[in-house]
Amino acid sequence: MSKKPVRVAVTGAAGQIGYALLFRIASGEMLGKDQPVILQLLEIPDEKAQNALKGVIMELEDCAFPLLAGIEAHSNPEEAFKDTDYALLVGARPRGPGMERADLLAANAAIFTVQGKALNKVASRNVKVLVVGNPANTNAYIAMKSAPDLPAKNFTAMLRLDHNRAASQIAAKTGCAVGDIRKLTVWGNHSPTMYADYRFATVNGKSVKETINDQVWNAEVFLPTVGKRGAAIIAARGLSSAASAANAAIDHMRDWALGSKGEWVTMGVPSNGEYGIPKGIVFGFPVTTENGEYKIVEGLEIDAFSQECINKTLAELQGEADGVKHLL
Ligand code: NAD
Ligand code: LMR
Repeated sequence: MSKKPVRVAVTGAAGQIGYALLFRIASGEMLGKDQPVILQLLEIPDEKAQNALKGVIMELEDCAFPLLAGIEAHSNPEEAFKDTDYALLVGARPRGPGMERADLLAANAAIFTVQGKALNKVASRNVKVLVVGNPANTNAYIAMKSAPDLPAKNFTAMLRLDHNRAASQIAAKTGCAVGDIRKLTVWGNHSPTMYADYRFATVNGKSVKETINDQVWNAEVFLPTVGKRGAAIIAARGLSSAASAANAAIDHMRDWALGSKGEWVTMGVPSNGEYGIPKGIVFGFPVTTENGEYKIVEGLEIDAFSQECINKTLAELQGEADGVKHLL
């Protein structure tokens, strides 16, 4: 007997990540090849964006995906999020010419306050929210604060792209396959201050740290390469990462919904005080997932270098939270 369709809301649906994401959700790559989905797509009311969304919907229809049980186009978040089980918040205000970081935070605070309130009002009480739009951690924090009737733990930010980037760099360095790497994580903010940490990682069962055995490479090559990868892609493509970002969103949601089978994955989640991160700050942590829930991996030793890195990315996140406090 076929499963009941679940509702998946995607914002910024006519953007570049949306174009790389929707077809994969509709083909079952995110929630399983036996799970029908109804797509509830949100774009800004602007005629050009709504027309582009119509085009994307025509293409989704033309794929004749057996699992695609419905498609809706919206310009109002309260309609787009109605009863939604999953919400991928991709649409955000990009940084424009002459725009300071504070302006960017304020512009996005406005969007994510409205969307958080809408989720609070109309989404499924179990909705799983992934924020992709930048600044992702702080946007997730704003949405979470704007949705007091939903569990805070249901609001997450995307650090999975950073995790995947780190895995790929380690695979290249060790000459092993990405699939052989376990227990990798990225702490903190989705920004160049993130701390990609392979101290606990193994490759084919062997310690990555011992295999590489090069702290200079860690500090001077690996961390800057992973931290500045987004900027390197923008410099090369003239556009920010899209297919890899969509892929990371699929990985994040799939593992959250279907379980990571004991493996560590990185998710940006509200802290409950773990590792000294103040409660409520949305921070990249190592987690395992099972039965639709994630659990932060606790008890890891934090050495002096790691603590310094964690403090730096935490300070940036606290600064962002302070910058939007008056808007919440
Ligand atoms: P894009 O500009 O191609 O598309 C964004 C879309 O969002 C546009 O179609 C726009 O009309 C729409 N939009 C803007 N405000 C909206 C709102 N309030 N409601 C609904 N839709 C809205 O951008 P993109 O390349 O798809 O990237 C989207 C976001 O994801 C950006 O903020 C980008 O920086 C971020 N990003 C995050 C990661 C990550 O790892 N967390 C990685 C890559 C990109
Ligand atoms: C990325 O990491 O690719 C995105 O967040 C884009 C950016 O601005 O770095």
